[in-house]
Amino acid sequence: MTVPTERTLILVKPDGVERGLSGEILRRIEAKGYTLVAVELKSATPELLEQHYAEHVGKPFYQPLVDFMLSGPVLAIVAEGDRVIEGFRSLAGATDPTTAAPGTIRGDLGRHWPTKVIQNLVHGSDSEESAAREIAIWFPAL
Ligand code: RTP
Ligand code: MG
Repeated sequence: MTVPTERTLILVKPDGVERGLSGEILRRIEAKGYTLVAVELKSATPELLEQHYAEHVGKPFYQPLVDFMLSGPVLAIVAEGDRVIEGFRSLAGATDPTTAAPGTIRGDLGRHWPTKVIQNLVHGSDSEESAAREIAIWFPAL
């Protein structure tokens, strides 16, 4: 019996695209052994972000987060592999780049700029349920 392989939704956020780190982030995903299923440069909309960040609507950082995510294009990625959801979160590191471990994307490449929202280069789905929901939002054709 083959175990169905898992998929996750990854975003290179506007700070990562603007700094030219899309290639480096894709490199780390592939170097870990995950397969790229879809990669597309996209512009978010307030409606799309309200669905994507539904769990954060109403929090103090919600509007700054939306403004940040609308500040430039994002690279939307679907990656596949065994335990890729957990594995990419591990590659990404802790939410705050200042304390994210060296060796992680946020720890190596990010820092906590003094803005109203944490700019931390990437997003990764945090559960199978979130991954299915987020992939449907960003790649309805998949
Ligand atoms: P993500 O969803 O982007 O993969 O990151 P995460 O799980 O580590 O963080 P989460 O708690 O889901 O928050 C989503 C994003 O909101 C921004 N944030 N800013 N206090 C703040 O300024 C603050 N808290 C969260 C970050 O961009 C975070 O990744
Ligand atoms: Mg999250």
